[in-house]
Amino acid sequence: MATVLAIETSCDETAAAVVKNRHIFSNIIASQVADHRPYGGVVPEVASRQHLANINHVIDRALATANIGWREIDGIATTCAPGLVGALFVGLTAAKTLALVQQKPLIGVHHLEGHIYASYLAAPDLQPPFLCLLVSGGHTSLIHVRGCGDYQTLGQTRDDAAGEAFDKVARLLGLGYPGGPAIDRLAQQGNPRAFGLPEGSISLPEGGYHPYDSSFSGLKTAMLRLVEKLKATVDPLPIADLAASFQATVARSLTRRAIACALDQGLTKIAIGGGVAANSGLREHLQTAAAQHNLQVFLPPLSLCTDNAAMIGCAGADHLEQGHTSTLALAAQSRLPITQVMQLYP
Ligand code: KG4
Ligand code: ZN
Repeated sequence: MATVLAIETSCDETAAAVVKNRHIFSNIIASQVADHRPYGGVVPEVASRQHLANINHVIDRALATANIGWREIDGIATTCAPGLVGALFVGLTAAKTLALVQQKPLIGVHHLEGHIYASYLAAPDLQPPFLCLLVSGGHTSLIHVRGCGDYQTLGQTRDDAAGEAFDKVARLLGLGYPGGPAIDRLAQQGNPRAFGLPEGSISLPEGGYHPYDSSFSGLKTAMLRLVEKLKATVDPLPIADLAASFQATVARSLTRRAIACALDQGLTKIAIGGGVAANSGLREHLQTAAAQHNLQVFLPPLSLCTDNAAMIGCAGADHLEQGHTSTLALAAQSRLPITQVMQLYP
């Protein structure tokens, strides 16, 4: 069993946690939502500065809440890719410094692998292989999870990520940042069948369409046209119906692809991860469809879907147990395919 201190600063949450394999001792998050709200989105420079201001305090609180001494910590895990480089750099530097001073192994963690590991925290008995539908602010992927560090990407988005689509449509509806939770709340009061919207399919040159890839640009444009048309004729704008119809379309589209992929690949379990996995419409659709096909679904609690350090610790502890550690030369990378995570452990 490995106990790790984990740090996550890839985007707009400064987070630290203490985790022993699939058990959480502490999970502290300092959210920057209020700092970015005036700008309508995450400003990288603001994120880096806020991480710098918060990081020491957040780490201290994670250690104090876990009530654990350095002697019991076996390693230090930190997100090092993908993400905003300046933001990643803050957590990475803190982790390297602690690893050096406390003489502990350093484990660089891929942010998306962390999102996959949130399912292990929520369901400690879950074992690979399974399919993970990973839907965050920057990614929309269907990943075949074969084991620790062993992934195959079966589907992804051709344009916007699911979270990005939620954020852009929220802006269009005047809901502000962060858009996903705002649409989710408003959709509860709307009619999901009020407007018919395109789900978005990826055509193949030889005919037919790619069954696992998604595209949200058509849906986004359809929303824009619809809102423009309604603005000219209806006052006030039926934003709850618009939010509910958009959310249901995204949920249907993601669910259809995930179910088709799991069935084709002979996988009987589907896990979900990333900020958009917190979406109530998606959770409901996926659960209903999976039950119809006798597939098991794993839905982590909302707090483990959005960015946190516990998921990074859970992935880090697993890698540490397998003997996968990073060197102090570990770099922050804005992009790194999840299929290349083993590069982090030379
Ligand atoms: O995983 P995450 O916290 O950060 C990234 O790694 O990107 O995901 C953030 C994204 C944002 O686009 C946010 O709007 C979306 O997740 N999100 C949601 C919900 N909660 C967060 N989207 C839809 N419904 C939600 N309830
Ligand atoms: Zn994330």
